[in-house]
Amino acid sequence: MYNLYQPFTHGPSLYRQRNPNAVRAIALALSWTFLLLCIWVIIDKFYHARKHANIARCRSLDDLPSTVDAPVPGIKSPTRLRSDRYEPSQDEVFSKRKKYVKLKNGKIWTGRLNGTEVIQGDVIFGEGVIKSITVSKTYDPAHSRYTTHVEGDDIKGGGEWVVVHPEGVEGDESVETEVIDVKGAWITPGLVDLHSHIGVSSLPQLSGASDGNSHNGPILPFLRSIDGLNTHDESYILAVAGGVTTAQVLPGSANNIGGQSFVIKLRPTNERSAISKVVEPPYTLLNGSRYGEGDWGFEAKPRWRHMKHACGENPDRRYEFTRMDAAWAYRNAYNEAKKIKDQQDAFCSQLLSGDLRKAEEEFPESPLETEALVDVLRGRVKLSIHCYEAVDLDMIVRLSNEFKFPIASLHHTGETYLVPDVLRRTWGGAPATALFAANARKKREAYRNSEFAPKVLADNDIPVVMKSDHPVLNSRYLLYEAQQANFYGLNSTKALESVTTTPAKAAGLGHRLGYISEGYDADVVVWDSHPLTLGATPQRVYIDGILQINDSHPTMKPGELQNPPQTPNFDKEARETVENDGLPPLEASVIFRGKVVVLKNLSTGYIRDGDRVKRWFPPVDSMQDGEQAKGWDVVMRDGSVLCHGVFGSCTTSLARDGIRLEDFEEVDLEGGVILPGLTTFGSSIGLTEIAQEPTTNDGNAVDPFSATPALLGDPLETIIRAEDGLQFGGRNTLLAYRGGVTQAIVAPVVSRFVFGLATAFSTGATNALERGAVIQNTTALHMSITHQNDISPTNAPIVIHVDSADIMATLINLKHEYHETTGQDVQFTFAGGTEAHLLADDIARENISVILTPSRPFPIDWDKRRILPGPPLSADTQISYLLRKGINVGLGTVDEFDARNARFDAEWARLSSGGYIDIAKAIELVTVNLEKALGVTEPNSDMIALKGVSMGFEGKLFSVTSKRRGVIEILL
Ligand SMILES: *[C@@H]1O[C@H](CO)[C@@H](O)[C@H](O)[C@H]1NC(C)=O
Ligand SMILES: *[C@@H]1O[C@H](CO)[C@@H](O)[C@H](O)[C@H]1NC(C)=O
Ligand SMILES: *[C@@H]1O[C@H](CO)[C@@H](O)[C@H](O)[C@H]1NC(C)=O
Repeated sequence: MYNLYQPFTHGPSLYRQRNPNAVRAIALALSWTFLLLCIWVIIDKFYHARKHANIARCRSLDDLPSTVDAPVPGIKSPTRLRSDRYEPSQDEVFSKRKKYVKLKNGKIWTGRLNGTEVIQGDVIFGEGVIKSITVSKTYDPAHSRYTTHVEGDDIKGGGEWVVVHPEGVEGDESVETEVIDVKGAWITPGLVDLHSHIGVSSLPQLSGASDGNSHNGPILPFLRSIDGLNTHDESYILAVAGGVTTAQVLPGSANNIGGQSFVIKLRPTNERSAISKVVEPPYTLLNGSRYGEGDWGFEAKPRWRHMKHACGENPDRRYEFTRMDAAWAYRNAYNEAKKIKDQQDAFCSQLLSGDLRKAEEEFPESPLETEALVDVLRGRVKLSIHCYEAVDLDMIVRLSNEFKFPIASLHHTGETYLVPDVLRRTWGGAPATALFAANARKKREAYRNSEFAPKVLADNDIPVVMKSDHPVLNSRYLLYEAQQANFYGLNSTKALESVTTTPAKAAGLGHRLGYISEGYDADVVVWDSHPLTLGATPQRVYIDGILQINDSHPTMKPGELQNPPQTPNFDKEARETVENDGLPPLEASVIFRGKVVVLKNLSTGYIRDGDRVKRWFPPVDSMQDGEQAKGWDVVMRDGSVLCHGVFGSCTTSLARDGIRLEDFEEVDLEGGVILPGLTTFGSSIGLTEIAQEPTTNDGNAVDPFSATPALLGDPLETIIRAEDGLQFGGRNTLLAYRGGVTQAIVAPVVSRFVFGLATAFSTGATNALERGAVIQNTTALHMSITHQNDISPTNAPIVIHVDSADIMATLINLKHEYHETTGQDVQFTFAGGTEAHLLADDIARENISVILTPSRPFPIDWDKRRILPGPPLSADTQISYLLRKGINVGLGTVDEFDARNARFDAEWARLSSGGYIDIAKAIELVTVNLEKALGVTEPNSDMIALKGVSMGFEGKLFSVTSKRRGVIEILL
């Protein structure tokens, strides 16, 4: 064996003689050295790679995503020239020219300056982002009122194509810009729905597309809603038709920690995938790495993640938990996450303070089960917490302080308005609150929900978001939630913010969504009226700059509807609600019996006339166009009208008849209106107080067709009667009464479907024995027919609860057969009626009434999937279409809370009919038409008076006059 070093120790001899052995030895030595060097380099590289990774990891451990949550005022040129979501159209690819859109002459509510900025001017967008806004003048909502009437025909269709270089895009190649004159229409950012289950609780509801709730345990932070997102949900296009462009898709509330949520755009993408809908997909979702390339260039920050938590009844019911168990489940989960976070923090603080032994160790990664919760503790997750009651809110806020994590938004939050101080104690500051406007009382924890909550919270400087919880409410009408909040006292700025900027900020996306501002996503809606007016409908909707909806029959609504509504004052009611812990008294404040009451200073009256409604005063031909008459009096006693006439004439004539003026009680209606009392049908109002609490309800009656005969005898002789289960004075009932709905018709609910004899009752009565409380003991026989059951009809007049056109066709055949075999006719009414337009001619011929329940179609089940959606997706609404066919149409509702809104439903039907439905016809939809359809033979002679001139958001119920009950009640 060679002594390797020998030649070197004899150095001089090496150079003296070139000995071949020495050369070999040198070569060998060199290769060995090289080999060792390589090994050393590899080891060193490995060691350093780990060291560098660990150091980088530790340095970024507490990096936060973007915290910019609003455009910086005054920024003129776009900082973001192209969206990461930009999908060039085929046109653009073909012509190699970018296509921009310029919406000209809009009233642009930008969302900037805390929602107070309105610009009259143009907005230009392209490549998925807003390029520029041109101001012609700034609109001052406090001092301007728009009165221009623009005819529908003026605003038809698309615009002209011109080649222009929009401002702020210097040096760019030429682009083509489509110029569309919107003629003064309102433009807002696309609406953002912070709480939706769109795509996971998918429509139509089918067991194969129900991915909203895992039932695999209370703590599931590792689940992701994106993994269950149905890309074929029927609701996407409908939501977009309501101006909704973005939604946070939350897992359901069956778990305390239900999983991670994702914010999606609602448009179809070229890729058709679930992931391509996600806005700024977090890097943890894309490839496990933390940072990446976005459209701002390399992003040196992580992106927001989102997660759902839920407390209270929903998860507790599922796991037979108490609230104590739920709180422990949370603390245990967060404690596990905290242990991992603490290990990571300790590791990093040692490494970063120079302890290089740590460089050799592996970073203490969290197991996949907990890594998302560790990110919550690092403040990188926007938490959405479903939580109703003070007790739950208190627990969640303590949890946030115990484990030191922020909460982005609290959802449903029936009682947040009662505990603003608790919210302010949340670690990191008060969360936003995401509310329903009026959906309340379905369960105990929602019993104290109040329509005044948005106003009260805003007064407490808590950010207010209005949300749909789709499909709990149809997300197409998200804006209606903001409108109602505005009606009940949330000011118009905050109401618009509540469905745009505020939810965008709460989702951590205020740097690109929720505003019309340079560089923001081009999610833009052009409206047919001011967005806070009832029935406001998009004419055009763009998402990422791509046209989604183009109303081919746009109806620009007239003058006054271009202004925000002048809503009534509910300050007193809001104050009383807080003072009474959410349950203010709802009974009438003043009741007149035997007294002559003069309703003074009315502008308009409508009255029943047989089975129609007609204008009562002023006479139709006496009115100039647009003139608001004032000064009509209606004099009443015990609910009967004594006389009516222009100011003073009526009282004078009464005095002549010997009625003493000093006995008069005079009330000033300030130009208000008097109308027939309205009727509600479709919910279980009067049978149900808290739907999910059996002890508060009449309960499910026994199905006479499935019970043993011994128990019930002949089914048809033992039909359930709703009148036997009536309860008076419930909150839904009294709120309906306060909304001018003086009569309710309810059918019994039998083992989840409707069957039995319905009854009609007065919503304002206190008990069944009171005079006029029960209006008609039995109105008609009701039954429901869906694809889930099949029972044969009887020979009585019947109201059939049916939605499928195919089942309606079968029923019409049955009606013929019955006629052929017996020579007699059977009278049908279809309640539900979602697909009735498909058989409109047959239904008209058979003289079948249709009660649309709900009044605006929603394809929630297979039987209801073929809807006539109404503007902007179809010219006709289903209501106007059926009326045109000569069918008797009534409007119904599904939920008890919604009974109070009959007046809004009717007015909405009028406002979206393009002029076909006038006020009298609109009132008929919720009065005479319903009575006719439901077999009510005793006409409802109640009258209601509103302060304010509209059935919509400018009127407030003042009084109810009931001849039947012999009273006049003041409800202020
Ligand atoms: C917006 O409101 C916040 C909080 O009330 C206030 O600090 C800020 O100055 C306002 N910004 C503008 C532009 O009015
Ligand atoms: C609504 O209230 C906010 C402050 O609470 C205010 O800045 C805004 O101007 C108000 N908007 C209107 C239309 O009064
Ligand atoms: C309802 O039935 C009760 C008892 O059968 C009866 O006293 C009452 O007069 C009926 N009410 C109406 C409005 O027919």
